[in-house]
Amino acid sequence: MLHAEFRNGHKPYSGAHRSEDMAREVTHEARGPAKLDESDMGDDGMIYVCQCGLSDTKPLCDGSHNATADEDDGVVYTYENDDAEGDRRAIGELGDEE
Ligand code: FES
Repeated sequence: MLHAEFRNGHKPYSGAHRSEDMAREVTHEARGPAKLDESDMGDDGMIYVCQCGLSDTKPLCDGSHNATADEDDGVVYTYENDDAEGDRRAIGELGDEE
């Protein structure tokens, strides 16, 4: 049973699943690494790093990945303003060459 919870009340993996075939395009503006320490740990002693790109508290997961739970495999999406609550639209398929 997962007991972790973020400061905003979200749970790290509630309702979401991971897949190698799901993708989304996000904008990253940072130009260097983030330094993490024990203050970044959840109440379960773990540090959850965002891999979906939609967290408002990057590099930490804030539960925004739940918006990706119904993405179709093989489709590349974009979210308006990189916001999990923004409009989502498909922009291509995995493996498309530009
Ligand atoms: S993986 Fe949780 S917010 Fe991105």
